[in-house]
Amino acid sequence: MDQTARPAPGDGSFLSDIRTLRERARRHIEQGAITPGYQADRAAVVRLLNEALATEIVCVLRYKRHFFMARGLSAESVAAEFQQHAAEEQQHADQIAARIVQLGGEPDFAPEGLATRSHAEYVTGGSLVDMIREDLVAERIAIDSYREMIQYLAASDPTTRRMLEGILAMEEEHAEDLVSLLQDLDAPA
Ligand SMILES: [Fe+2]
Ligand SMILES: [Fe+2]
Repeated sequence: MDQTARPAPGDGSFLSDIRTLRERARRHIEQGAITPGYQADRAAVVRLLNEALATEIVCVLRYKRHFFMARGLSAESVAAEFQQHAAEEQQHADQIAARIVQLGGEPDFAPEGLATRSHAEYVTGGSLVDMIREDLVAERIAIDSYREMIQYLAASDPTTRRMLEGILAMEEEHAEDLVSLLQDLDAPA
């Protein structure tokens, strides 16, 4: 914005006037939550969210596999953690899919190409420690990609950004959980 055109703070004139807001809202009402004031590149956001959706689904599948295959002395508590993470990744997938629809896009649940669309990988892992390490790598990939998406969105789509910030916080918790599991098992990260 041109600095000289910036209104004085506190006079409320940085908001569009009521008539403009009302008129704009009546245009393209079929677009639902997407108003002419939406500032992000909608197609690009939907594409990014579909990559995030694929990542979450791959993470659900990997955690489920690890949950059922966990063996060994500490398997029970570690498996419970895998199960909880799987459920939380599923919630993330659902949140992301709902937002894609709200943005007028279509969530891509096609199994074909899922692993390619996903940022994180599906690695089965052999031992319990291998599984935890692979999950930690996947969480770290998710953390970086969510952080980048949040920076990309900045102020252009606050709703999507806030959703991603919530998900990012949980991926950071997941990573921390996994590091403590490795410590409990006396395994280097
Ligand atoms: Fe997640
Ligand atoms: Fe996670």
